[in-house]
Amino acid sequence: MTTQPTSNGPQPFNPIRSIRDLDIKNKVLFLRLDLNVPLSGPDADGHRKVEDDTRIREAIPTVKHAIERGAKVVIASHLGRPDGKRDPAFSLEPVAGHLAELLGQEVTLADDSVGEGIQMMVKTLRSGQVLLLENLRFHPGEEANDPAFVRELATLCEVYVTDAFGTAHRKHASTYGLPAISPVRGMGFLVEKEINFLDQLLEKPAKPFYAVLGGSKVTDKIRTIETLLKRVDGLVIGGAMAHAFWAAQGDTVPAGAKQPKPADIEAARKIIKLVREKEIPLLVPADTNLGFDIGPKSIQKFCELLANAKTIFWNGPLGWFEKPEYAVGTFEVAKFISTLPALKVVGGGDTVSAIKQSGHAEGFSHLSTGGGAVLEFLENESLPGIEIIKNISKVQATQPFITG
Ligand code: 3PG
Repeated sequence: MTTQPTSNGPQPFNPIRSIRDLDIKNKVLFLRLDLNVPLSGPDADGHRKVEDDTRIREAIPTVKHAIERGAKVVIASHLGRPDGKRDPAFSLEPVAGHLAELLGQEVTLADDSVGEGIQMMVKTLRSGQVLLLENLRFHPGEEANDPAFVRELATLCEVYVTDAFGTAHRKHASTYGLPAISPVRGMGFLVEKEINFLDQLLEKPAKPFYAVLGGSKVTDKIRTIETLLKRVDGLVIGGAMAHAFWAAQGDTVPAGAKQPKPADIEAARKIIKLVREKEIPLLVPADTNLGFDIGPKSIQKFCELLANAKTIFWNGPLGWFEKPEYAVGTFEVAKFISTLPALKVVGGGDTVSAIKQSGHAEGFSHLSTGGGAVLEFLENESLPGIEIIKNISKVQATQPFITG
């Protein structure tokens, strides 16, 4: 985090308290996690399984710390987008089982996230026990940051800690409204780690710094690219969005390929102009497999540029890596980057999955648990869910924590 001067001269100052420094013994700890993980389809008995448990695993150190320190742990999360309605397909039940396995202890799943029944469960919770609330988004008040819903959550919270980095770009009741009224609040180890890595991209990154960007729509990424262009020494473009750059340069997009939308071509034009003004390289694949993968010439060119990188940020797969026949480009570039002596940070669920599938994840410095959150962090240099837990932000009301 940043260093700010104090009256006694410049001293390291961290405006966010870590769970490490909070008194949580025998306290009801409301722990907001991002347990929004992909689930399988239902089996014959209607049960689903966690398909990728990265986000659960990444939250374990914080949960274990809370248990060891004797907190009464109340975990809250959303899962998917059930639109404010109870929907069994979005129940956290598979997550509860998986979490219990990873923790090696019982995790009780509540059948709701608020209400008198839940308050009773919290009241009887003992030090070191873990209660997982049901999906917060079964209530419309969560996404609406409804003050009444915030007050209900506050009855379950003596100390507020967030480790939900992947959701910190949302101003929801549990990520924004609740910490705003919680006098004792802080972050978990995952949020701390994410901030530390992403800050390194923003504050004096070692040069040369290159960004590798893939995906299909340039319009989705334009704001991030504009921000990155202030810092990077070169841009590498892959994925289907390469064709928007072809069209912007007046080249023909092959007839069988998906044609880029006018808005994407316009966004690509804007990026080309900015890159020219900065006089930095922009690598767009010359040989794509109908936009589904990058070809061997592009792989070679990309690797030549990236070879001397000291910092790399990668967002967006370079092709349709889920199909083995189109995974070569993404996997080869992942393999090459993994060998470089550089800071290598990856953001976005798909990109992280691609790198894991390539078998070269170990060679990366940081695989973020955030998708949209990473892009917004790079755009705005912070996130609402992080700003609100800073000690310097004002607590707006006293917390109506349930007692007795
Ligand atoms: C994510 O997966 O990016 C986070 O969990 C946020 O989910 P959301 O985009 O549905 O708010």
